[in-house]
Amino acid sequence: MNIVLRHTALAGICPFVVFLASCASGSHSDPTSSNADVDARVSALVSQMTLDEKVQLVHGNGVPAQRIGGPFPPGVNGESYIPGIPRLGIPPIESADGPAGVTVKQTNATALPAPVALAASWDPKVAALYGGRIAMELRTLGFAESLSGGINLTREPRNGRTFEYMGEDPLLSGRMVASLTKGIQSHKVIGTIKHYALNDQETNRIKSNSVVDERTMRETELLAFEIAVKEGKPGNVMCSYNLVNGTYACENPYLLTTVLKNEWGFVGVVQSDWGATHSTVNAANAGLDEEEPGEVGGEAEREIPAFTPHFSSKLKEAVATGTVPMSRLNDMVQRKLHVLISTGIMDDPPKRGGVIDRSAGNIDALSIAQQSFVLLKNVVPSSGQKAVLPLVSNKLSSVVVIGGHADAGVLSGGGSATVPAENGNAVANCQYYVNTAMGGCATWYKSSPLVAIKAKAPNAAITYYSGTDANAAATAAANADVAIVFATQWEAEARDLGSLSLPDTKSTPIMAEYDQNALISAVAAKAKRVIVVLENGSPVLMPWLDNVQGVLEAWYPGVQGGQAIADVLFGDVNPSGRLPMTFPQRDADLPQRLVSHTNLNVNYDEGLLMGYRWYDAKGIKPLFPFGFGLSYTTFAYSAVTVRSDGSSNVSVHFTVKNTGTLAGAEVAQVYAMLPAGLGEPPQRLVGWSKVFLAPGQARQISVSIPAERLATWNTGKHAWQINPGKYVLRVGGSSRDSSALMQDIVLDSGRL
Ligand code: BGC
Repeated sequence: MNIVLRHTALAGICPFVVFLASCASGSHSDPTSSNADVDARVSALVSQMTLDEKVQLVHGNGVPAQRIGGPFPPGVNGESYIPGIPRLGIPPIESADGPAGVTVKQTNATALPAPVALAASWDPKVAALYGGRIAMELRTLGFAESLSGGINLTREPRNGRTFEYMGEDPLLSGRMVASLTKGIQSHKVIGTIKHYALNDQETNRIKSNSVVDERTMRETELLAFEIAVKEGKPGNVMCSYNLVNGTYACENPYLLTTVLKNEWGFVGVVQSDWGATHSTVNAANAGLDEEEPGEVGGEAEREIPAFTPHFSSKLKEAVATGTVPMSRLNDMVQRKLHVLISTGIMDDPPKRGGVIDRSAGNIDALSIAQQSFVLLKNVVPSSGQKAVLPLVSNKLSSVVVIGGHADAGVLSGGGSATVPAENGNAVANCQYYVNTAMGGCATWYKSSPLVAIKAKAPNAAITYYSGTDANAAATAAANADVAIVFATQWEAEARDLGSLSLPDTKSTPIMAEYDQNALISAVAAKAKRVIVVLENGSPVLMPWLDNVQGVLEAWYPGVQGGQAIADVLFGDVNPSGRLPMTFPQRDADLPQRLVSHTNLNVNYDEGLLMGYRWYDAKGIKPLFPFGFGLSYTTFAYSAVTVRSDGSSNVSVHFTVKNTGTLAGAEVAQVYAMLPAGLGEPPQRLVGWSKVFLAPGQARQISVSIPAERLATWNTGKHAWQINPGKYVLRVGGSSRDSSALMQDIVLDSGRL
C-alpha cells in the first residue's frame, strides 16, 4: 500500500511540492486593514466623483447570466455587473457564484467537492487551496468577485443548503471560511462571506424571521462570522434574505453597523443577497452598501411580487432630499474603492478571455476530495480476520457495485452553488432529482466510481446493479466477495429536506428511484460483506448500520469523486476527514421538531445548544458524533499539559503517536468545559491540529487557545468576558472520544 501524505503539501510549503496545481501565489491582500496610502487614494477618487457615478458603484444592474437587466457588454455572463468609471481608472466589477467552484456555464470550470466536504478536511490549508482554485478560475474568466464563503451554521441539518456551508461549530466554520477567503483574495479576487445572518434554513427564506436572543446569536452563528471576518478579512459580506428579530437582515442596523462594522471593524462592503433589499432609506442608513442584483432578477423576480430596485434612482433621490446623508453614500463608495485597491483589482483588473487549466483543476479537486472523506465504520466481518477496508485488490475475485448511479458518476448539490457538468450530465433523468422550489435538476459529474473501482481490481469480476431491483442486487451480492452500495441524498437551495432519512420512492418520490434503506438492508441480509458509500450534503440516518461492515462518507465529492472514492476504498489514500456536524440517530433527536412551512417565526428555542452542544446537554447519543472519523491506522494521545500566559490565553500541549502500521492523519481536537453555573453547554471546541504521522511516529502538538475562545457573551455589558474558575480541557479524536485526556486550569475574570 502506498499512502501518500498529500496533506502536508498544501499552501505553507508549496515550493517543495510538485503535484499540487494551485500553490498560492500573488500578494496577500488585506481589504479590511487600515492603510493610510489606500485611504488617501480613496478620498481623492471620491472627491472627483459625481453623484451619478457614486450611485452607479453601489448597485448591480440585473443578472447577466439570465440576461435580466442590463444592457450588458458582450461576454458579461455572471451574477452581477457594475460598470467601471474609465475616467477615474475604476474597472468594471463582475461577480460569479459560487461556493464549490465557478458556476458560469461553458467555461469548463472545476467542480470541487462541496464546502461541507472541505469542512470535513479540518485543514485550513486545504481551504486556502480550495479558495485559490476558485479565484484563479474566476480571474482567468474576467471576474473580480467571488460569491463563495457560505458559513451559516448547521442549526437545522435538514436545511437544503447544508452542503454549501461548513458544519455546526462556530470555530471550525469560522476558521475554514477565513482561510478560504484568504486563498481567494490572494489571487486578486474579492471574497464574499454569506449569508449574514441566521439564515439557517431555506423554507420561506425570503419571509422567515429568526427569533434569537443576543447571547445565543453572539455565541453561535455570529461568532462564526466574527472569526471569519476578523481572520479572513473578506472584501464583501453578503446579508441574507431573512429577518432577524423582526427586521430584514439587509436593513438591520444591529447586524450591519453595530456589530459588523463598528464592533468587528469591517471596512469592506455589505452586499445584499439577490433580492434581499427591501427599502432605500432604512437599508442605506442601517449599513447596506450595495444592492444586488439591483434590477429584477434571481430571487427578487421569482419570489418578490412587484420588485423594484432600491439603490439606483431611489437612492439618488434619497440623497438629494437628505433622507440618506451624502456621508453615507460616500462611505458606501469608499468601502468599494478600498476593497478594489487593497485587493489589487484596481491596478490589475482581471481580463476576460482566458482558458481554465482543467488538468490543474482536476488535481486540486482530487486532492481535496481525498482529504475530505470520513470513514464512519470499518469492522471485521464475521467470516473474516481483517477489517473490511481497505480492499486488497489481489484478494478480490468478485465485487458487486450497487446503486446511486455509480456506473455513471457522482452527485452534486443543487441551486446557485452547482458547477455545470460541462461534458454532459452523467444522469440525465429529470423525472427524479428535480428542485421543485427553484427549478432545475440534479447535476451528476461523469466521474464513475464503478470505472475507478474496476481499474483498481483489474483481475476481479466486477458487476453493477442499478438498485431498482433489490432482490437481484442482493442475490448477486450473496455470491461476491464484497458488495459496495452507493446511496445518495440530493439537496438543493430554496427547499429543505423533509427528513434526514435516505430518500425513497414512498416518502420522497421525486428524490429516489427506489427505496434506498430497503436496498441496503436486503443486500446486507445476504452479502458476506457490505460497504455503503454515501453521497450527501446533510447527515443521513442509517437504520441498517449494524448490518453493514463499512460506511464511507464521501459527501458531494466533485468532478474527481469517483477516482477519490476508489482511492480511499483501496487504501491508496488513508481517510483523514472528520465530521463537521453531528449525525443523529433519528429526526426526532433534532432540536427543531420539524421545519414549519406555516410559522414564519423560526424560534431558536434551543439557545446555545447548537449541534453537538444539544446532544451533549440532553444526553442524547448521536449515531456519529461531531469530530468523528476513522483511519486505516490508529493514534494514541499522551502527556497533556495546559498553560496560561496570565491573560487567559491558554496553550495545550500533548503528544500524538501513530500506533498503527500505515501513515495517516489525526485531527487532534481540544474541547473546553467552562466553569459551572454559567449556563454554558457541557463543552465547546476551542482548537485543533491536523497532524500527519508515519507509522510509529510521535509528535508533540501545541494548540493555542486565545482567551476569546473561552469567553461568554455578557448581555448586560454587550461584551465578551472571561469568567473566573476552573476550565477543563479535553484532548482527543472526537467530541465524544471516551479516552480523551483531561487537564484543568484556573483562570481569573476579565473583559476582552
Ligand atoms: C443565493 C446566493 C447567491 C445569489 C446569486 C441567491 O439566491 O442565496 O447565495 O450568491 O443568489 O446567485
